[in-house]
Amino acid sequence: MQQAVELKKGIYWVGVIDWDLRNFHGYITHSGSSYNAYLIIDEKITLIDTAKAGFEKEILSRISSVIDPAKIDYIISNHLEPDHSGCIPAIVEKAPNVKIFTSVPNGLSNITKFYGDLNYQGVTPKDVLNIGSRTLHFMPFPMLHWPDSMFTYCPEEKILFSNDAFGQHFSSACRFDYEVDFCHLMLEAKKYYANIIMPYNFQTKNALKAAQDLDIEMIAPGHGLIWSKMIPNIINAYQKWSNDETEETAVVVYDSMWHSTEKMAKTIAETMTRRNIPAKIFDLKINKLSDILPEVMTSKYIAVGSPTLNRGMMPNVAAFLCYLKGLSPKNRKAFAFGSYGWGGESIGQVEEELKKCGFEIWLEKMSVKNTPTKEELENIEQAILARK
Ligand code: FEO
Repeated sequence: MQQAVELKKGIYWVGVIDWDLRNFHGYITHSGSSYNAYLIIDEKITLIDTAKAGFEKEILSRISSVIDPAKIDYIISNHLEPDHSGCIPAIVEKAPNVKIFTSVPNGLSNITKFYGDLNYQGVTPKDVLNIGSRTLHFMPFPMLHWPDSMFTYCPEEKILFSNDAFGQHFSSACRFDYEVDFCHLMLEAKKYYANIIMPYNFQTKNALKAAQDLDIEMIAPGHGLIWSKMIPNIINAYQKWSNDETEETAVVVYDSMWHSTEKMAKTIAETMTRRNIPAKIFDLKINKLSDILPEVMTSKYIAVGSPTLNRGMMPNVAAFLCYLKGLSPKNRKAFAFGSYGWGGESIGQVEEELKKCGFEIWLEKMSVKNTPTKEELENIEQAILARK
């Protein structure tokens, strides 16, 4: 039987650990994930979020280690996405009169499409729910990560239940930040931010501003470890990431058919490093998009290369640029490069896509016919070294 973990007196983690998750709609989750749910034992027994459908047994087992699930009075649905709401039907089956709180208008107007006609109540930022010796304050932050997303804050316990924000796809037997390797934790938090939160930087800044006014001892997210001793570290990181702060580093991303674009990529990376802009290289045949984006998120420079295939860029490069544009990092300096046999259309197409991302074109696009000669590679070096 899976057990609950007591976080503070009367407050339990009753979530699910998804050890085997490796693909969260395209995000490659090397470390698995967890779907965190929190149970508060008070005059009104309250469950904050649930878990992904398919894990009903595990969440019910953890709840049952504390109380009979039939006694749950309230569910707070901080976020409607099914990784957090998928076990609502299983809880409702045990506790048919449970009242489900969701944000208005975006939670309330959508939740019936997922779970039918249940006992819902919409909440606004002005609403405070008294559950006995504690109160729950609702803080909607639409688009962090869906229109319905909200935080719930419990001032008596100084806990911020933040759902997707501050999460990590990180399965662990531990529950708190200080119990795991700090570098691993921050890498997973960074990867999660780059692949999920980055398009919503504007709302992250609002959330950080609001959090400044709260007394917080614990940030309890919907995925991964709970922030406790490392709260300043994650807040500082979120401030930097949400402000599109970058370092003097570069990312060189490419695909290649016969190693010509690859030779250009390696020359570009070496030369950027020579001018004190350390560069990392990612071959799109090997690397996953979700592993590249954390590096892009904190690098000021990005070079993208593709040979020409059937008058266009390589499909891997098109997929990368599509993913990149959706996640919309800002204030980057970029350029395109690639080899070609005859038409050479791909290089201009890559440059156009980089412009559509809103990036400054830092260097004129570089193209080489067939395979690059020593002189052509030296020309690439010179172009990079000469750039003011
Ligand atoms: Fe973890 Fe947007 O759901």
